[in-house]
Amino acid sequence: MSRILILPGDGIGPEIVEQAVNVLQCFQSYGLSIEIEHGLIGGAGYDQTGSPLPEQTLQLARASDAILLGAVGGPQYDSVPRHLRPEQGLLDIRGQLNLFANLRPALLYSQLAEASSLKPELVADLDLLIVRELTGGIYFGQPRANEKIDGVRRAYNTMVYDENEIRRIAHVAFKAAQKRDKRLCSIDKANVLEVSLLWRTVMDEVHSEYADVELSHMYVDNAAMQLVRAPKQFDVMVTSNLFGDILSDAAAMLTGSIGMLPSASLNEHNFGMYEPIHGSAPDIAGQGIANPLATILSVAMMLRYSLDQQEAADILEQAVIATLRSGFRTQDIAKSDEAAVSTVQIGEAVIERLQTLLTA
Ligand code: IPM
Ligand code: MG
Repeated sequence: MSRILILPGDGIGPEIVEQAVNVLQCFQSYGLSIEIEHGLIGGAGYDQTGSPLPEQTLQLARASDAILLGAVGGPQYDSVPRHLRPEQGLLDIRGQLNLFANLRPALLYSQLAEASSLKPELVADLDLLIVRELTGGIYFGQPRANEKIDGVRRAYNTMVYDENEIRRIAHVAFKAAQKRDKRLCSIDKANVLEVSLLWRTVMDEVHSEYADVELSHMYVDNAAMQLVRAPKQFDVMVTSNLFGDILSDAAAMLTGSIGMLPSASLNEHNFGMYEPIHGSAPDIAGQGIANPLATILSVAMMLRYSLDQQEAADILEQAVIATLRSGFRTQDIAKSDEAAVSTVQIGEAVIERLQTLLTA
């Protein structure tokens, strides 16, 4: 029996997570042995308990086998102090559970080639994986402060990595590359930053253990350009927390919509938290029009990485593709002449196809 903790969070989080929970329950009715619990995080946690990561949520998380998260944040929290902001709850749970390896696959479903902002031929069959370091770098570095000195306001953060942090994410990235096209591109800013020089050095050192993988290095500014110029040149990209945050949003758009990209955040033992890479989208929250596919695809990643259910993961991804093939589109992926369906409608369409595939 696997215990799965659901953290819907804020904005569109609860709506999209509901569809993903339906998917989990569908697998449950076909024999997957899981127990589903719910917890509070982000603004929802702050509103109800005063903390964006309530102690009880952390305890449930530690007792679970996998976590599914919706999204956190919203404009109503803009004036809340930083340590109580919804985003802090997300960063804290990543840090507390040591979820240092963030896998963000960007896969273009051929049915959506025209939804990409790039020409279809540039993105057709795009399949790249961004491996983002998630518990270090400038997001967590000390010292950090916002202060006033002699009447002048100043603020700073620290981008810091030690070699062990770089080494462990390097191993994850090389291993991922070994299972794919065996090409790894490490992204840094080694022409300017000491921390990037160390990053590059350690990547080269770890490379000696993975002779079958081709390693290249690229500066982050060039990588941003290459992602929108010729994204198919990449197989696996590995990078630090901040650079990965930025590049993964760009990569998401290549696939037609940020509403399509799942992610897995794993610790050393493949315990993981799974979440769509998009945010809480407060502008469309509560309207029932958000795209739940990134969250549903995050369930597929959960089945694959944490629950060891490869076949179920494959079947779920097939159900999503079949749904797209049948023409179901939420507003973010619909062409101007196509009618958009609701969050619930596309969720139900996935379940229908899933049931067919599971019965077959
Ligand atoms: C992401 C998000 C988060 C991040 C925010 C919500 C803190 O943008 O998961 O990419 O910056 O990591
Ligand atoms: Mg982001």
